[in-house]
Amino acid sequence: MSEKKRHACPWWIGYFLASPLRRLYQKPEKIVGPYISEGMRVMEIGPGMGFFTLPMAHMVGKKGRIYCVDIQQRMLYSLRRRAKKAGLADRIECRLCTDISFGTSDLVGTIDLAVAIAVVHEVPDMRMLFREIRSCLNEKGRALVAEPAIWVTANEFIETLSIAAEAGLTPAGTPQIRGFRSALFTVQRE
Ligand SMILES: C[S@@+](CC[C@H](N)C(=O)[O-])C[C@H]1O[C@@H](n2cnc3c(N)ncnc32)[C@H](O)[C@@H]1O
Repeated sequence: MSEKKRHACPWWIGYFLASPLRRLYQKPEKIVGPYISEGMRVMEIGPGMGFFTLPMAHMVGKKGRIYCVDIQQRMLYSLRRRAKKAGLADRIECRLCTDISFGTSDLVGTIDLAVAIAVVHEVPDMRMLFREIRSCLNEKGRALVAEPAIWVTANEFIETLSIAAEAGLTPAGTPQIRGFRSALFTVQRE
């Protein structure tokens, strides 16, 4: 995949991505809803300002938790502010990560669903990304990966899938999401 694409999207784009207008063509309830139920522990990589995070926090309910891992403090700052305003701050935990570590070692084996939407192509070390996702998932855990079709070609997405498989994730479906190339994964059995 071209190196020039691998940088975090500018923080101010986060405002557009979190705009309610986006719901006209991408509905979080349809995209992530089928994989979430009450009480779940969800890890979201690259949440931006929370377009998917807040609806997911509603879906997991009071007993669930969303762990958000992002490399930009400004994204997390705005996400926290929105979560507070929506009364959902107690179920959303934000973590600032680096290019070499997610800082999620305390979550190993505890996550029911990992969500990575429009972020994988921005991550410099995809192998590390999928290894971290795999290690955080529990035995029945699943991962939803979706990449914007305008940025990621079909061949690049195939490469992404094979890197995910090397990390121990098994393709388990191709959800149809408007404007995205998507894949659902389960955990590979030893
Ligand atoms: C294009 S935005 C997508 C935001 C959100 N998922 C959405 O669909 O609205 C990409 C997000 O991934 C984050 N990001 C980029 N590189 C990252 C990395 N190496 N680790 C974690 N997050 C990263 C960016 O800061 C940004 O918040």
